[in-house]
Amino acid sequence: MKNFKRYLITSALPYANGPLHIGHLAGVYVPSDIYTRYLRLRGADVISICGSDEHGVPITLKARNEGVTPKEVVDRYHSINKKAFEDFGIAFDIYSRTSNKVHYNTASEFFLKLYNKGEFIEKTTEQYYDEEAGCFLADRYIMGTCPNCGNENAYGDQCEKCGTSLSPNDLINPHSTISGSKPVLRETKHWYLPLDKYEGWLKKWILEDHKEWKTNVYGQCKSWLDQGLQPRAVSRDLDWGVPVPVEGAAGKVLYVWFDAPIGYISATKELTPDWEKYWKDPDTRMIHFIGKDNIVFHCIIFPAMLKAEGTFILPDNVPANEFLNLENDKISTSRNWAVWLHEYLEEFPGKQDSLRYALCSNAPETKDNDFTWKDFQARNNNELVAILGNFVNRTLVLTGNYYGGEVPRRGKTGENDESVIREMAQIRNRVETSLESFRFREALKEAMNLARLGNKYLADSEPWKLVKTDPERVKTILNIALQITANLTIVLEPFIPFSMEKLRGWINANGFTWQDAGRDDLLLPGHTIRKPELLFEKIEDSQIAGQIEKLAATKKSNETAAAKVVPSKGPVTFDDFSRVDIRTATVLEAEKVPKTTKLLKLKIDTGLDVRIIVSGIAEYYEPASLIGRQISIVANLEPRKIKGIESKGMILMAEDSDGRLVIVAPSEKTGNGATIK
Ligand code: MF3
Ligand code: ZN
Repeated sequence: MKNFKRYLITSALPYANGPLHIGHLAGVYVPSDIYTRYLRLRGADVISICGSDEHGVPITLKARNEGVTPKEVVDRYHSINKKAFEDFGIAFDIYSRTSNKVHYNTASEFFLKLYNKGEFIEKTTEQYYDEEAGCFLADRYIMGTCPNCGNENAYGDQCEKCGTSLSPNDLINPHSTISGSKPVLRETKHWYLPLDKYEGWLKKWILEDHKEWKTNVYGQCKSWLDQGLQPRAVSRDLDWGVPVPVEGAAGKVLYVWFDAPIGYISATKELTPDWEKYWKDPDTRMIHFIGKDNIVFHCIIFPAMLKAEGTFILPDNVPANEFLNLENDKISTSRNWAVWLHEYLEEFPGKQDSLRYALCSNAPETKDNDFTWKDFQARNNNELVAILGNFVNRTLVLTGNYYGGEVPRRGKTGENDESVIREMAQIRNRVETSLESFRFREALKEAMNLARLGNKYLADSEPWKLVKTDPERVKTILNIALQITANLTIVLEPFIPFSMEKLRGWINANGFTWQDAGRDDLLLPGHTIRKPELLFEKIEDSQIAGQIEKLAATKKSNETAAAKVVPSKGPVTFDDFSRVDIRTATVLEAEKVPKTTKLLKLKIDTGLDVRIIVSGIAEYYEPASLIGRQISIVANLEPRKIKGIESKGMILMAEDSDGRLVIVAPSEKTGNGATIK
């Protein structure tokens, strides 16, 4: 392999529209952190870049649903996620965000450069437009039936059921996710990156020059390339994002997948004035850590963008992982089927390494994998506590008891001692080989083998029995056990950094480098160590049962919610029904009720009068979108005080089993006060 001078490690910028869960850690951030820490230990020139991806429809949709601005959504999750990464020791050199100024400038300049070089195609096409909401429907703003599998809830950019990537015009029976209405086609102009132009080059670059990429990554690229590439739009008609920086582009922003990867460049700029050496010198090795749903963007589209720009380096590897499931079910934010990082820390305070360890041991490197609480407990109790913790504790406690914490001198060594020393010397190479090929599970296993070796060495040589009869021999054994301990702080540091930092404190040794691993003289006779505490604690059955119960409760409530329709009510007489005065009305004014999340105060014209109704629809409708809209009301409901406001009547709404509300309105416009029967 080529000798690189420096490393640029990037980790997929998570969308700032929700908190992080174990799937994020296992798939992307634990591997990238392990690799970065390993390189730092080697003394390499390395920077690790990440940040929040703050554009895109998932964010504006979330904001709309909550009735807040997109900025409020990204501010909230940017700080939650930044903190979660810090709490788990994911040591980025910078955690930036794509809503900041440097990024806007960098992304605009990038676009302009391609634009001025004539790298884009400008095309006017017909796209779906929501006349009610007054906007074009990009990506997830439109849903319909998947032409591939018939799923009725496919999005404009992808069908989540069969995984096919779609464009809005592919959908059968499309409808707007904003107003629910049937969209019409309207002309709009966009800029396209002609990926077809790069097909030949990409085929050579990936399929011939990067045969070493992981098979899952290589395979996905090959299938994209075999199908043939099409020009891809890099702009959208949206009001949240980086504005397209050319004339005649009002109301258009860069497509989120165009601006987000440029975020890696912006963040590097923000980190160091010396950013260009990381991005432009071919002696830099760039590696993208991502999940499998990001492969096409990092292996095909972003490289084509970089190639078109012309002055940047390309990634040398893209070690994408598959997905992690949770207790045999797909992790899902909307179904709350996840272990959230901030919740984990509340329930297992101080146990970051236990999770890092379990997630790495079981990482979805070559196929989707399952996280189970039982496995988590077993990894912690049977490996971290019983092997690593036990070995370290015995070594340090015995050194304290026998020698007051002073490292004893090694005497004559026998065959068993020598073989342990030889074995120890080889571990570094094995861990290194696995790490260099992004096989992190294997690397961790090799590193843990050093603790296994130490444990077995103590068990076989039984210094606690020999101490009375052969004290010289015990010195040799503990000297070697201490060298193993010091070696552990090096080879395990990338995986479980919190515990290794503690351990380095106890043995009073800092400043080892990766290259020191394998040496049998890391702790010299006379060096003193401190009294240790417990490195790991057992996780009790009751704690695991608690987690399993919590998931069972989630499953149950999801099932109840999924039960399609609510059971029917008992019969009422015709008379009862006709006493209810239902009529049409029009919304004149609408505003949020302060200090509530669900309530709107509506002033309406009922044809009879103008009155106030308070309604619990704020989560589903923006106040402004309701003004002028015709609705149906129960006009003779007894007035009620809600939050100090007298509400006279009720707005009719359809509520589905998820509790989602939509307004029930006359299908055509009619006068106010028309009675509904
Ligand atoms: N936000 C995307 C996701 O979570 C990842 C963006 S990676 C970047 O899938 F390269 F575009 F930044
Ligand atoms: Zn489908």
